[in-house]
Amino acid sequence: MKTLLHYFFLLCFNILLPAVHSQCIKDQQQSLLHLKKILQFDQPSYSTKVISWNSSTDCCSWVGVNCTSNGHVVGLDLSSETISGLIPGSFANFSNLRVLDLSGNSISGPIPGSFANFSNLRELDLSGNNISGIIPGSFANFSNLWKLDLSGNNISGLIPGSFANLSNLRELDLSENSISGPIPGFFADFSNLRILDLSGNNISGTVPEFFANFSKLTSFSLSGCQLNGTFPNEIFQVPTLQTIDLSGNLKLGGSLPEFPMTNGSLQWLILRNTNFSGSLPESISNLKMLSTIDLSGCNFTGSIPSSLFSLPLLSQLNLSHNQFSGELAFSNVSFNLVALDLSFNNLEGQISVSIFNFQGLQSLNLSSNNFNAFPFNGPQQLENLSNIDLSYNSLLSLYNGTDSSYSSFPQIDSLNLAANKLGTIPYFLRNQSTLSSVDLSANHIQGKIPDWIWSSNQLSTLNLSCNQLQGQIPTFLPSAKCLDYSRNNFSSISSNIGDFLTNTLFFSLSSNNLRGVIPASICNASNLQILDLSNNFLSGMIPQCLTAMRDLSVLNLARNNLTGSISNVEVTEDSSLQILDIGGNQLGGKVPKSLAKCIMLEVLNIGNNNITDSFPCLLKNISTFRVLILRSNNFYGGIECLNTNGTWPGLQIIDLAHNNFSGEIQGILWRTWREMMATENENGSLSTIAIGSHTKNPFTSTKGPFAHIKSHPFCTDSTCLPLRYAISHLEYSVSVIVTSKGSEMELVKILSIFTLIDFSSNNFSGPIPKEMGEFKSLRVLNLSRNAFTGEIPSSFGNMQVLESLDLSQNKLSGHIPPQLVKLTYLASLNLSYNQLIGRIPTGYQFSTFLPSSFTGNKGLWGFPLTGFPPPPTVNGSSPNSGHHHEVNWDLIIVEIGFTFGFGVAVGSLLLCKRWSKWYYRAMYNILLKIFPQLEERIGIHRTHVYINQRCTQFSTFPKDLFTRNKGIWGLL
Ligand SMILES: *[C@@H]1O[C@H](CO)[C@@H](O)[C@H](O)[C@H]1NC(C)=O
Ligand SMILES: *[C@@H]1O[C@H](CO)[C@@H](O)[C@H](O)[C@H]1NC(C)=O
Ligand SMILES: *[C@@H]1O[C@H](CO)[C@@H](O)[C@H](O)[C@H]1NC(C)=O
Repeated sequence: MKTLLHYFFLLCFNILLPAVHSQCIKDQQQSLLHLKKILQFDQPSYSTKVISWNSSTDCCSWVGVNCTSNGHVVGLDLSSETISGLIPGSFANFSNLRVLDLSGNSISGPIPGSFANFSNLRELDLSGNNISGIIPGSFANFSNLWKLDLSGNNISGLIPGSFANLSNLRELDLSENSISGPIPGFFADFSNLRILDLSGNNISGTVPEFFANFSKLTSFSLSGCQLNGTFPNEIFQVPTLQTIDLSGNLKLGGSLPEFPMTNGSLQWLILRNTNFSGSLPESISNLKMLSTIDLSGCNFTGSIPSSLFSLPLLSQLNLSHNQFSGELAFSNVSFNLVALDLSFNNLEGQISVSIFNFQGLQSLNLSSNNFNAFPFNGPQQLENLSNIDLSYNSLLSLYNGTDSSYSSFPQIDSLNLAANKLGTIPYFLRNQSTLSSVDLSANHIQGKIPDWIWSSNQLSTLNLSCNQLQGQIPTFLPSAKCLDYSRNNFSSISSNIGDFLTNTLFFSLSSNNLRGVIPASICNASNLQILDLSNNFLSGMIPQCLTAMRDLSVLNLARNNLTGSISNVEVTEDSSLQILDIGGNQLGGKVPKSLAKCIMLEVLNIGNNNITDSFPCLLKNISTFRVLILRSNNFYGGIECLNTNGTWPGLQIIDLAHNNFSGEIQGILWRTWREMMATENENGSLSTIAIGSHTKNPFTSTKGPFAHIKSHPFCTDSTCLPLRYAISHLEYSVSVIVTSKGSEMELVKILSIFTLIDFSSNNFSGPIPKEMGEFKSLRVLNLSRNAFTGEIPSSFGNMQVLESLDLSQNKLSGHIPPQLVKLTYLASLNLSYNQLIGRIPTGYQFSTFLPSSFTGNKGLWGFPLTGFPPPPTVNGSSPNSGHHHEVNWDLIIVEIGFTFGFGVAVGSLLLCKRWSKWYYRAMYNILLKIFPQLEERIGIHRTHVYINQRCTQFSTFPKDLFTRNKGIWGLL
């Protein structure tokens, strides 16, 4: 009876099975439960599958589990279960698996050898974990595999030979790992492949031609690898292909073939930052499905085929940073085009009125070409356009009529017309009430600012710098956050200006003709973070309330005619001041005691004033200090108070020159300036030391002279994300300094490149401390015109990167240490007028110095001095006069504080990709001037000469600074 019943049940089950699902075999159930027990979960509460497995139900019905009819587990989906730790060996119990999905967990460790059991595997997905190690040889067993996804792990090593067995693969995704080596030849057998994604690995070598025979290929992605050679352009012609992405393979070249067929299925064509060249075939417009074309950062030449613009589905077209030339012609244009970027080419002529046919256009970037006209005058409208960038072209005056016939852009948010040749403020602005950002800098705009343009009460950023505007600084932009009126001819500020700046964060009036006193109402602008009034003729005292502004991080009043005593300047307790530059005025008194409260101060420049004080020891606890300039005042006494451990570890520039400091400079002070002791990166490139908390980097160019700069620490602060476009409107503020004396320094680079000690023209005495030799990253040391005695320390030979050493006009005696010959970067040496004796060492840089470097030392002989004993020199007073590497360090120092600071503060205020690019460009030029041999170290070879040529032009013609300097960043 019992057996009968048993039979009955069995029968029932056998009938029911195909309809419902099989019953799990006991050992499979146990294996699954065992798995549940041993798997680690980061967030058990997020588990939706494994957590529900329960021995009281049939395991074949569990979520994520599939069985065969005889109860073997064939499918396991454990994706996104927050599983962590290693893959347990007990997976081997499921030897019938066809599908295994462990994607989107936090699994670490290698792929276990036990996977060798899965000879029936069809699909394996381990993507999005932390799996490391190499791909094991056991993959040779997966001959049935048609889908393999190992993307987004840390897998390294080569693509293994065991893959040769995977000839049934249809989808292979190994992207975003660290796989290296070439694409193996046996891939030729993978002709069933639909999807191949090897992007984001270190895969090198050439792209094999056989992919052109893959008749089912739809998606081909090899971006971000290290491929080189010539890309077989037949691959573009695979008729099934929808996506091709080769971007970021800087050394992969090739050209586009003709596209004779009109039925190509290509939708995405991405060749960004590769070395593709040649012209764009007209027949590319046969690819009617194209929706995204990104050929930016290649080396394409010739004209842009007009048919390209009529591709019916095209929505993104980026041809920027190439060498396209000629005029643009659009006839039938695509209504679907959303973003058009043709910037950084050599296009010219007029933009035709048919640009208004791109009715879907949201973003238009034509900057850095040679266009000379844009149809702003007409009844047209682009409904959706929100960003226009026409900067760095040759646009002449736009329409200035007063009737209503001018174009309009009802959604426009940002307009950049910087660096064109506009003579007036374009009249169409009158009607653009949605504008939040306008850049008209570096044009030829004259006269007063008309008040009609400010119908936009959204305007948040306005850059009018570098024009010829006159009259009073405008007071009618209540919502503006960033206002840059620098480098114009403005002559007055209204006394209530501050009442109109209640939202303003950045306000620069630098380099105008402003006279009179600084209006105290500026202190009402309580949100100000950066105030720059430098380079004017402002007089009177510094308003007391100014330094007391709590949010101000940069205050630059340098180079005015300010007078009065600063002894009583008050700073608030929680001051944000990072840069204070009041150098180049006629300020007197003592260093204000309250400065000790500025615990974030990085730059203090009070040089070139009439301050009479002893060394400001009260500053020594400010650990953030990087730059201190006390130059050309009446400071006196010793600097012993710096002999405290931990004083100014980040100090890079200290300039005490032209004062009356005295005493010895022995002491441990030399042990605490760690920044000066830092050694450089091996390869001599810039180390990037992050400042404050700004560490992430939007500056991610992978090409061009600045590609090696990994991180721009400034342009990241999220506090100003709404000012996204603002930075392009501030870029010229920095140029004030660039053109003034050729003394631009940018903080990132200062950090590792520029370090300076100038104690010259004081009364320091005693020996030069040998510990100074520890300053392995010191670039400039000037101890001239003091009363130092003793020998030149031989440890100076350790200052590997020293570029300029001036010990002239002291009482130094003994021999010139032969170790100095090791200073291979030394471009300028002055040991004249001491009591040195013996033979001048020979070799390396010493063969380049002129007699004037050594003159005035009676006992010195040998090259370059002639005769023995050396004859008196003809012109000892102008050392280095004929030296082609000569740099006038005097000019350099004064300005550094400000620029340095600018880097800090503007960066922390604004997200500023474009600005930072500009900044690097300018910086690089200046650095080349200052350190000619720097080129070797920071440049990319093929761009050197070009940059140098530009550099000359740059410094000679300040205005040209704002016309295209394409060569320098055109290759980015
Ligand atoms: C389980 O079977 C269902 C239905 O056939 C299928 O959709 C699913 O992808 C399978 N899952 C696994 C992990 O095999
Ligand atoms: C391409 O890269 C491979 C591997 O890195 C290298 O051996 C080869 O010389 C390179 N070829 C060219 C033309 O640069
Ligand atoms: C770009 O092409 C031009 C002309 O074909 C060539 O002279 C130049 O070297 C190429 N530049 C790069 C970066 O390959």
